[in-house]
Amino acid sequence: MLVVEGLCIDARRNSVVTDVSFEVSEGERVGLLGSSGSGKSLTAAAIIGHLPPGITSTGTITVDGHDVAGLPTPRRHCGARPAMIFQQSATALNPMVTVGKQLSAPARASTSDTAELLEQVGFSDPARILASYPLELSGGQRQRVCIALAIACRSPLLVADEPTTALDVVTQARVLTALRAVDSALLFITHDVAVAAQLCTRLIVMDRGEIVEQGSTSEVLENPRARLTESLIAQAQAADPMANLPGSRVR
Ligand SMILES: Nc1ncnc2c1ncn2[C@@H]1O[C@H](COP(=O)(O)OP(=O)(O)OP(=O)(O)O)[C@@H](O)[C@H]1O
Ligand SMILES: [Mg+2]
Repeated sequence: MLVVEGLCIDARRNSVVTDVSFEVSEGERVGLLGSSGSGKSLTAAAIIGHLPPGITSTGTITVDGHDVAGLPTPRRHCGARPAMIFQQSATALNPMVTVGKQLSAPARASTSDTAELLEQVGFSDPARILASYPLELSGGQRQRVCIALAIACRSPLLVADEPTTALDVVTQARVLTALRAVDSALLFITHDVAVAAQLCTRLIVMDRGEIVEQGSTSEVLENPRARLTESLIAQAQAADPMANLPGSRVR
């Protein structure tokens, strides 16, 4: 579904992503892990063709067999348009339009369908949320609306950049369940190994713009090869000693 080959990204002549290659198969959920500044969000931006001004990329990106490098999502063949959940979600919603209207556009759906989508992402009062404008919601509520919006697109590829970081653990668990139920291929960006382990069957670890490790979730967690992977696992275990990570002998 997604093939990234030899992706390099430069910001003002500094190399920020170097020779990144990976694949995500149809329906597969892959975690892209790494510390802050390692190049995860820029990799996602290149995949959806939305790099910030002044940032350039080389390499090939193929979505569902279509060469899409440099093409913004709306200009692509309709089978090659990933749905994206942004790290900063507030800006992805139109402040002038109610949540209900925004959700019904991609879903081409009735109010009961959009209410069900909101329930999937943890809302117990969907009617109130559907009638609200984005600025009337909290940050975590807006983030969940964005996740519902991305699910509503039914795109075969979903790219999610730290979608659950702003959420409490109960809501986070509901959102992860909702994402698990989606049939689309998923590239899930996070610095939280515990969250990635709950959702993804394969992990890719980036450090300072390069991939330092990739493999099945159990392989990577049971036998981490890169120091960064070890420290991300240690961090997740310090945050939640009860977390049942495979390979929890790493402390
Ligand atoms: N618009 C920009 N202009 C110049 N440099 C940028 C820009 N956006 C990101 N960078 C640089 O590129 C590098 C990678 O940034 P990126 O946002 O991809 O990191 P990240 O892995 O998503 O980090 P985080 O976990 O903090 O979100 C960083 O060193 C950052 O300073
Ligand atoms: Mg980021």
